[in-house]
Amino acid sequence: MRLKDRVAIVTGGAQGIGLATVRRFLDEGAIVALADVVPAAVAQATDALAGAADRLRGFSVDVTRRESLAAMVAALRAEFDRIDILVNNAGITRDARLQNMSEEQFDRVIDVNLRGVFNATQAVLPTLLDQGSGVILNASSVVGLHGNFGQSNYAASKFGVIGFVKTWARELGPKGIRCNAVCPGFIATGLVESIPPKVLEQMRERVPSRRLGRPEEVAAVYAFLASDDASYVNGAVIEVGGGLTI
Ligand code: NAI
Repeated sequence: MRLKDRVAIVTGGAQGIGLATVRRFLDEGAIVALADVVPAAVAQATDALAGAADRLRGFSVDVTRRESLAAMVAALRAEFDRIDILVNNAGITRDARLQNMSEEQFDRVIDVNLRGVFNATQAVLPTLLDQGSGVILNASSVVGLHGNFGQSNYAASKFGVIGFVKTWARELGPKGIRCNAVCPGFIATGLVESIPPKVLEQMRERVPSRRLGRPEEVAAVYAFLASDDASYVNGAVIEVGGGLTI
């Protein structure tokens, strides 16, 4: 129970790594705000976790819309009077090679993956500063370390959120706030289900661990980083990829 009574927000919490993180944080004793842009998915996820309903709140939040973030923060402050942890997990892809990438594809990914992280962090920051404590965790990617074919927009956004944590660790470390980034490798979420079996096999072959990761294995790292076990981990970038990039 490393997160007992901590108040945590997980953006993009309705499925995949986000949902696994919500579950893990609940198991660790946290009060969790599950924030996602798809209202039906928020309802489905909160229904599935009804056993923890007293410590779970669902919010329809679009991280590109600052007013929806402000409404969630106001509701959490009114009910719990604090926010301890923000996991900036919401993220999307719109892949194309550079010569084919539309401005719309570029803008949308930057809006959700980069500006969304900026928006959500600014929304919670006054609360963390008032408390003099807090943890901010950004979802980057191995693509945010090495780039990837067909992902100019996504790579830029995932490099960008690493820039955020390194900057925020400097700005906010003196205020008692820790900021770290997590770089998942190939994780078996809905995203991966659309990949043809042959390509999946090639992906497995590239990983020294010879398998894809599970969302729970990324959630476990978020739980560690959110907890006091990571009290001296600040500005770090942690790869969770089964050795993919070595
Ligand atoms: P996913 O697609 O399964 O889930 C993402 C969630 O974010 C969805 O529930 C979606 O509704 C929500 N979302 C999308 N736009 C939003 C917005 N504007 N506001 C609020 N919520 C929004 O994704 P997955 O695979 O669980 O990935 C989670 C994070 O981890 C993403 O940031 C992704 O880039 C990153 N990641 C995932 C990897 C993987 O292999 N699955 C690898 C590396 C990084």
